[in-house]
Amino acid sequence: MSRELSGRVALVTGGARGIGAAIATALWKRGASVVVADNGTGIDGRGEDENVAHDFVTGLHERAVAFTDDLAEPGAPRHAIELAQSAFGGLDILVNNAAILRDAFVFKAEMDDYEDVLQLNLVAAFEAIRSAAALMREQAKSGRGGERYAWGRIVNVVSTAGFYGNYGQAAYASAKAGLVGLTRVAALDMARTGVAVNAVAPFAATRVTESIVPQNDAQAAYKDEALAVDAAYVGRFVAFLASDAAQRISGQLFGVRGRQTYLFSQPRPVAQFDLEGGSIEDVDAAVRTTFEPLFVPLETDLEAVSAWPQLTPR
Ligand SMILES: NC(=O)c1ccc[n+]([C@@H]2O[C@H](COP(=O)([O-])OP(=O)(O)OC[C@H]3O[C@@H](n4cnc5c(N)ncnc54)[C@H](O)[C@@H]3O)[C@@H](O)[C@H]2O)c1
Repeated sequence: MSRELSGRVALVTGGARGIGAAIATALWKRGASVVVADNGTGIDGRGEDENVAHDFVTGLHERAVAFTDDLAEPGAPRHAIELAQSAFGGLDILVNNAAILRDAFVFKAEMDDYEDVLQLNLVAAFEAIRSAAALMREQAKSGRGGERYAWGRIVNVVSTAGFYGNYGQAAYASAKAGLVGLTRVAALDMARTGVAVNAVAPFAATRVTESIVPQNDAQAAYKDEALAVDAAYVGRFVAFLASDAAQRISGQLFGVRGRQTYLFSQPRPVAQFDLEGGSIEDVDAAVRTTFEPLFVPLETDLEAVSAWPQLTPR
């Protein structure tokens, strides 16, 4: 394994299990030092087990430390970044991966669940970005490690639920869609500093994939296939985004499902009409002819991806 991330310091939230662990491992194998921020909680964010992160970093032996505070607590993401500074001297790569789920149909959802999901999946990610971006600007100005270090990388792990929507995932999809907007803003704000900010929507076998309840046979078949997909593919692509080679890439939305790697489109106007008459009938006629042929079907990613090429796990 080439060591092109040697000397870099990474923080991976939710980095002790599932996709986060695959990302932390991929960065570490390429030479980065890694702060693994994970409180070992349940899929729904309830309970904590600090051994999960401690055991994971023990397995890496060197260049890795655990941060086990609950990242949903205000101040915790900043403290994780301070740990990167005290343990390894700075921060070059931030991966916002930690997320929880509290699914409920919108007509039954509880406010507390919605707020808890937003707090970790979006607000904590913002706090991490805010602190990391300020630090990366300082590092760029001070030329940390020479010219080669005048950069930084931020990768936000999002979800196709934030693009397509998904039944019962109001909170999760809101947070992930928010993270997409945040990716674009951070990419713009940090462009002059040379910090690249991108989003990756993964799909891989984790305890979360196992918990998916298929709504029909096609989705059940898809789930079986997806459960064979190693999260290491996501780790590899994030390691690429963290490398020197990806300096030019910012503000993009990618997807990784096994070996299949996607670039997602981003919403831009696709049709236009100039409103002339003011009646409902006038607008209806223009909408029918100009917009309706281009409407996006009301389907979830599981329905849409069943038409995608087969996964080819390796
Ligand atoms: N698994 C998939 O196929 C899939 C699909 C789409 C998006 N994603 C996204 O990928 C990311 C990782 O998902 P996963 O399937 O590996 O999930 P996972 O539940 O297996 O891992 C998430 C990790 O985050 C940690 N975590 C959660 N809340 C925390 C908190 N408050 N403080 C510190 N750590 C916390 C957990 O302890 C856990 O180890 C998430 O952002 C998820 O939304 C996953």
